[in-house]
Amino acid sequence: MLDPSWYGGREQTYVKHFVLKHYLQKLTYKLGSVGGTLNYVDCFAGPWQHASEDLEDTSPFIAIRELCTARDALRERGRPSLKIRCLFIEKDRKACSLLNDRLQAVQDVEVRALNGEFEAHVDAIRDFAGNSFTFFFIDPTGWTGYPLRTIAPLLRHPKCEVLINFMTQFVVRFIDSDKVEDRESFRLLFGSEDYREHWAGLSGLDREDAIVSVYGRRVKDAGDFKFVGPSIVLDPLDDRSLFHLIYATRHIEGLRVFRNDAERPASRIQAESRWQARERRKSPGQTLLFEKPASPGYSANLQHRYHEQAQDHLMTILRNERRVEFDRLEKEALLFPLMNTQALKDWLNSLKHDGVVEFEGLEPRKRALKSGKGHYVLINEKGLGSED
Ligand SMILES: C[S@@+](CC[C@H](N)C(=O)[O-])C[C@H]1O[C@@H](n2cnc3c(N)ncnc32)[C@H](O)[C@@H]1O
Repeated sequence: MLDPSWYGGREQTYVKHFVLKHYLQKLTYKLGSVGGTLNYVDCFAGPWQHASEDLEDTSPFIAIRELCTARDALRERGRPSLKIRCLFIEKDRKACSLLNDRLQAVQDVEVRALNGEFEAHVDAIRDFAGNSFTFFFIDPTGWTGYPLRTIAPLLRHPKCEVLINFMTQFVVRFIDSDKVEDRESFRLLFGSEDYREHWAGLSGLDREDAIVSVYGRRVKDAGDFKFVGPSIVLDPLDDRSLFHLIYATRHIEGLRVFRNDAERPASRIQAESRWQARERRKSPGQTLLFEKPASPGYSANLQHRYHEQAQDHLMTILRNERRVEFDRLEKEALLFPLMNTQALKDWLNSLKHDGVVEFEGLEPRKRALKSGKGHYVLINEKGLGSED
């Protein structure tokens, strides 16, 4: 259980942990059902700004709890045995010693904490990961300490997924700075000199999206991933992004879990926690209980923005190809922040209702599009004629 009352004033951390928890839970059920070994590596582990004595509000313990709960449930269902292994890296000596102390109580899981800079432990991390499926969490406090060329050997692990906390708020502020040390730090982050040209002339959210997208493409190329998608975590008190969680995977099922099972519920939690944070600013002392409905405002505008972008993109594909498999549309749609499979189906159903598209391949008397069933979407003359 994630207790929201731990997170007063750190609502953005609550959203991050919510995404991590829900993602890991589903991932473990899906990947773990065939048994084997599942590794989790927290490259910037903390503990950091925790409120719980037992570190329950920190990523190491959230991960251990979710991985073990899923493993035990699978065991009860008679599934083959699943081994969970966790590795934590933390630079701060005191924090690492506290982590080691609390890890003593963990049983039935292999856990290890290494003190020192993440960069110095990359070889040890690769050895630890071996050939087993490994989930890497890269959650730094700034934009340094994880140069692209350093993380590339981890990203190239053939059976891995990665979640990177990209510190958007700081990056957008300093990325066009001409200070030599800033330029060098961003060259290391992006892995080359030519990062700036991609957002020249852009401003506001368009510039921010371009910066995040360029970084995502660099991660995609460095790890030869099939899908890289960002998810936005907002400032609880202001209408602006604090950071993006950049998720990379080689499997569409991973992207489905990330968008449908982690980001989608997290965006509701985010809207509610922002509403609560604003209320608390008005009346200090109130705790985070989520009793009141959230005011949609900025979050809803963002959702509208990315849904529109996704729809424009999908409409271009439909106009060019005329007949497109639903699975392909889903893969393209889920690359956009705040998109999910249900939102895609709702949009396609409304186009069908308006006579813009037809569906093909559905079983008799079935009307719902489904992934993996060979369902197709065909654009009609009406859709080809309209430029909206
Ligand atoms: C944002 S906090 C991590 C929070 C944690 N992942 C969580 O969600 O509970 C970043 C942590 O990384 C540590 N850190 C900073 N630079 C580091 C580096 N180069 N190598 C390893 N750890 C580092 C900091 O001491 C801090 O504890």
